[in-house]
Amino acid sequence: MYPEQKYDPFYLAIIHLLNYNTFPMKAKVSIIGAGNVGATTAQLIAYAGFADVILFDIAEGVPQGKALDIAEACPLWNSSVSVTGTNSYTDTAQSDVVVITAGFPRKPGMSRDDLLHANADVIKKVTLEISRLSPESIIIVVTNPMDVMAQIALKISGFSSKKVIGMGGVLDASRLRAFVSMGLGVSPEDVEAIVLGGHGDQMVPLPRFTTVKGMPITELLGKDKISEIMHRTKNGGAEIVSLLKTGSAYYAPAASSCQMVKSILFDERRTLPCSAYLGGEFGIEDVFVGVPVILGKNGIEKIVEFDLTPEEKTLFHKSASSVKLLIEKIGDI
Ligand code: NAI
Repeated sequence: MYPEQKYDPFYLAIIHLLNYNTFPMKAKVSIIGAGNVGATTAQLIAYAGFADVILFDIAEGVPQGKALDIAEACPLWNSSVSVTGTNSYTDTAQSDVVVITAGFPRKPGMSRDDLLHANADVIKKVTLEISRLSPESIIIVVTNPMDVMAQIALKISGFSSKKVIGMGGVLDASRLRAFVSMGLGVSPEDVEAIVLGGHGDQMVPLPRFTTVKGMPITELLGKDKISEIMHRTKNGGAEIVSLLKTGSAYYAPAASSCQMVKSILFDERRTLPCSAYLGGEFGIEDVFVGVPVILGKNGIEKIVEFDLTPEEKTLFHKSASSVKLLIEKIGDI
């Protein structure tokens, strides 16, 4: 049922030993919100065996039940981590990484922006608790509209902007990679992609940086097929919402969150598209928006800047402006 275990605990222990010259202590990851995305992220981390997991939710019994279910699978996965469900923030104390998935998902016909006010209140409450109990943690924000929620989490936590990161670009790029692999009949593993901008309908997928083993898809696919793939990527979330009817995507979002957690915990320094607070990079200031970052043990180690074509720049700036508009709608954080 499960694919080959790629994050073999022994392999990860060796990597840790080489990086830090010490034997690994298990890291602690708290996941706030034990719904579809949160519980699936917990499952992936437990399966990979790279951190103890605390699954928190306000719904009584839900995090406890899901955590117990995952813990009961750990023997079958040869995983030695602990998975604990809770309704008490105290259990999340001293986390290394906190993944926020708490809030409300989209329903058919709803945009991510419709979730704005309801989820802003949730993020404020959650961030206050996290920053109090895990002041050294790195926060990954998943809750939508994600770029705006990340900005709220940054403001409320008072953390360095290197330590508050939004998950969106990894998912959008993974969707793009999947669609290219389907279109060309090649392994998705060989497809790389970068998506810039806000995690919404105005995201900016970049065809010239979408490659199959280094070959840009502009050399491999016709213009019409490329624009069809780009359109499908932008609507990737909505496509799943309209199929599911009663919920939104969670397998790929959870896998994306898990990849970010892993890059931080193991200081992998992966270059991943993430929502980061920009302070002038790409000519954009004071807003969270998707850019390539190097993700390591300190969170965002570096924002990777590169030259955009005039057309890409216009689209990117337009996307950032639409995130700014939402932040203005919230008013004082
Ligand atoms: P869900 O409804 O399955 O789970 C949300 C959970 O949050 C529920 O268990 C609920 O009890 C809990 N919750 C609500 N208020 C809370 C609070 N104050 N404290 C702690 N827990 C609270 O939703 P799902 O599908 O897991 O999605 C979660 C969020 O992630 C949504 O906002 C969704 O739009 C977003 N999302 C973002 C993605 C991205 O790429 N950034 C991708 C997929 C989902």
